[in-house]
Amino acid sequence: MSNVEQTLSIIKPDAVERNLIDEIKAIFTKNNLKIKQDKKIHLTKDEAAEFYKVHQSKPFYDDLCTYLSSGPIVAMILEGENAVLFNRELMGATDPKKAEDKTIRKLYGISIDKNSVHGSDSAENAIKEINFFFKN
Ligand code: CMP
Repeated sequence: MSNVEQTLSIIKPDAVERNLIDEIKAIFTKNNLKIKQDKKIHLTKDEAAEFYKVHQSKPFYDDLCTYLSSGPIVAMILEGENAVLFNRELMGATDPKKAEDKTIRKLYGISIDKNSVHGSDSAENAIKEINFFFKN
C-alpha cells in the first residue's frame, strides 16, 4: 500500500555557506522526494530555540541554537513515499563520521554540529516542523 508523506528538511548554515543547496536538493529529487515548498531564512536564536525545543534538556542545546541561527538556512517540505524515514536514510547518521557512504552527511557533513542537514524524526514531528516554517 502506498504511504505518501511529507517531512521537513533543513539545509543548515554550514552547507548553505559552502553553496551546497543545489547539490543537496538534487539528491532529494533524484530519489523521488518532491520539494513542495522551500524557503531561505535566517532564524533568530529565539526562533532556533523554539524549533529545537525537544532538545532543551540536552547539554548541547545552547550551542545547537546558536549554530542554527548563525547564518541562512533553507527549509523545505519534502513529499514522497515514506518520506520521513526515507529522508533520514538519505541524510545518514547524525555524526558524519558514522554515516554510510553516499549519504548527505557522509558527503558533506563536517562534524556532529555542522552536519549539513536536519530531517524530521517522526510523522508527528514532521507536521509540527512543517507548521513552524510554512504555516500561513
Ligand atoms: P539534527 O538532526 O538537526 O537534530 C539535533 C542536532 O543536534 C543534531 O542534528 C546535531 O547536529 C546536534 N547535536 C550536537 N551534539 C549532538 C549529540 N551529542 N547528539 C545528537 N545530536 C547532537
